[in-house]
Amino acid sequence: MSTLLPLIFSFFYFLLPLLSRSALLTLNDDVLGLIVFKADFKDPYSKLVSWNEDDESPCNWLGVKCDTDTNKIVELALDGFSLSGKIGRGLLQLQSLRSLSLSRNNFSGELNADLLRLDSLRRVDLSDNSLSGSIPDEFFGQCRSPRFLSLANNKLSGEVPSNVGYCSTLAALNLSSNLLSGSLPRKIWSLNALRSLDLSDNILTGDIPAGISLMFNLRSLSLRRNRLTGNLPEDFGFCSLLKSIDVGENLLSGNLPSSLQRLSLCNYLQLDSNSFTGRVPTWIGDMNSLQVLDLSNNQFSGWLPNSIGNLQALEKLNFYENGLTRSLPESMANCKNLWDIDFSHNLLTGNVPSWLFELEMRKIVLSGNKLSGSIRIPSMNSSSIMVIDLSSNAFSGNIPLEISVMHSL
Ligand SMILES: *[C@@H]1O[C@H](CO)[C@@H](O)[C@H](O)[C@H]1NC(C)=O
Ligand SMILES: *[C@@H]1O[C@H](CO)[C@@H](O)[C@H](O)[C@H]1NC(C)=O
Ligand SMILES: *[C@@H]1O[C@H](CO)[C@@H](O)[C@H](O)[C@H]1NC(C)=O
Repeated sequence: MSTLLPLIFSFFYFLLPLLSRSALLTLNDDVLGLIVFKADFKDPYSKLVSWNEDDESPCNWLGVKCDTDTNKIVELALDGFSLSGKIGRGLLQLQSLRSLSLSRNNFSGELNADLLRLDSLRRVDLSDNSLSGSIPDEFFGQCRSPRFLSLANNKLSGEVPSNVGYCSTLAALNLSSNLLSGSLPRKIWSLNALRSLDLSDNILTGDIPAGISLMFNLRSLSLRRNRLTGNLPEDFGFCSLLKSIDVGENLLSGNLPSSLQRLSLCNYLQLDSNSFTGRVPTWIGDMNSLQVLDLSNNQFSGWLPNSIGNLQALEKLNFYENGLTRSLPESMANCKNLWDIDFSHNLLTGNVPSWLFELEMRKIVLSGNKLSGSIRIPSMNSSSIMVIDLSSNAFSGNIPLEISVMHSL
């Protein structure tokens, strides 16, 4: 009999996750689930010594939070515990789990295709691990009701599955910093509860698919650092709640769609390092929540419209490496919150505008233009300015004495 015991035990151990609640009346599902889950990974710093399988309840185990009425696990947070190995099926036993957070570990292997099947799961954070392989179709296909999903900073490859659109309860999706390739499935725009979408730092190619205007809840979009081509969609500006847009470091081209002028809540517009062309549109002045406007490293030409002076919330303005001509408009004296401008490597002419030193600037970079005349700086008490770069222009005359009171320079 004693020789049989280990055999019986391992038989049970194998079956445990599969047995129904009624078959194991005396045992706690959650304890079983976690013990089976733990058997699939290594815990090199013994963070989980409190996880004792003889306990009747797991509610005092490290990283575990239970509902005080039902004593069922509702939260599992094991972030930054240096755990490595698989995220196994034991978790599927946790029928009341609402939040699963395993970020900053070294979990590897493929994504568990059944994870989002858990009815009660609302929040899943698996970011900063070493998960690899492609995202299985069933992963999104079995999606019940998660609101937040982050798989950021793993090694997931292949395409974004086209059935990602099934996860219609998602309010935040973060797939940033993986190896996802191919073009974005059009169905991604059917996630119309999304408020935040981050697909930055992948190797996505092709055009941004049509239909983005369906995303009427979207507040924040990042497609930064991919290989996306084509124009910004004409209907982009119909996502009227957008506050933050980052499509920098792609291969996007063409003129900016005029619908962008509708984005009156947008405070962060990052279009740098693409191949956008044309004039900086006059309607830019309608985007009057803008705090950061970055059009650097593109092929914009012509002169900056006076309407830029309407952007009174503007703090940072970055236009380096374009083909802008003429001088900076006087209207910019109205941008009282501006503290960082970079217009280096353009074709600007004329004098240094007087308003530049009247605003509370910390950084002024105008190098590599065709600015001329003498540099005049109005007298100031104490200045917060830290960087002034006027190199590679055609200035003449003396270096102004006022520089000597710029103590932060
Ligand atoms: C993560 O796990 C892999 C094997 O899966 C191992 O080679 C690597 O050293 C681990 N990294 C850390 C930081 O523990
Ligand atoms: C996505 O996840 C990365 C890594 O955890 C994080 O740095 C980034 O801020 C997240 N994006 C959003 C929009 O929260
Ligand atoms: C200098 O400081 C005085 C007193 O704080 C203030 O009234 C004046 O406006 C300041 N001048 C400038 C040029 O900032």
